[in-house]
Amino acid sequence: MSDSRPIGIFDSGVGGLTVVKSVEEILPSEKMVYVGDTARVPYGSKSAATITRYSREIARFLTTQDVKMIIVACNTASAFALETLRSEFDVPVLGVIEPGVEAAVAASPRGKIGIMGTAGTIGSGVYQNLIMQRRPYAVLTSLATPLLVPLIEENWLEHEATRVVLGEYLRPFREVGVDALVLACTHYPLLKPLLGKMLGPGCVLVDSASACAHSVQRYLKGHGLLAGEKEAGSTHVYLTDVPQHFAVMAERFLNRRVAKIDKVLLDSI
Ligand code: DGL
Repeated sequence: MSDSRPIGIFDSGVGGLTVVKSVEEILPSEKMVYVGDTARVPYGSKSAATITRYSREIARFLTTQDVKMIIVACNTASAFALETLRSEFDVPVLGVIEPGVEAAVAASPRGKIGIMGTAGTIGSGVYQNLIMQRRPYAVLTSLATPLLVPLIEENWLEHEATRVVLGEYLRPFREVGVDALVLACTHYPLLKPLLGKMLGPGCVLVDSASACAHSVQRYLKGHGLLAGEKEAGSTHVYLTDVPQHFAVMAERFLNRRVAKIDKVLLDSI
């Protein structure tokens, strides 16, 4: 049994491409329709009601593209809008948080888990609650780290300024001695090399993008929804606004060029 319909996937902007990249790596036959809400980015500092409204509009567009599944490839939208989308849409909806939580719990032998993400994601408490349900005795340290997204978009991945900012942000995690740090924001996987150097081998970096891709694979396989092995995968990128520098940034997030970018008009934009 196979299903050649595309996977719908969305984020506030460019960050969700880390999820696209991970899906492309393990499911090369899948077609994807990606929406980046570049007209309304960032999501990380906005309210639950606003993010839910934005997410619903994007999901509505994706269902017009005959998608077999929707991946909410944004931690903030997963924190605020996942349950609403699941209740309002007929297609399966997967977010990045549950897979990130499973990976964190599996990666942390002592249960000393750190979480860093946007103010919205951290403030929602969703990661914290889900981890505590699975590991009631976990010691959690969570921190909103809003300066990291602009530094990453500037490509300052090894820059002195980024080291200084991380030096501050990592202090509480170091004090506790976390053995796993959840990168609870789609952009953060790009900082893995620097974070690895700064935190050393005693701390596992949990990449919610790659954890999400593996859970997509399991879901599609388990439900007979994988594309046929001989099919050629592709990713069609739609944006709600097409900023000049998007193609350059996208190339860094994906490690390849984006052939074509289309603009999509959502209900309220
Ligand atoms: N994509 C967002 C997230 O993963 C980060 C960027 C934003 O704030 O919109 O939470």
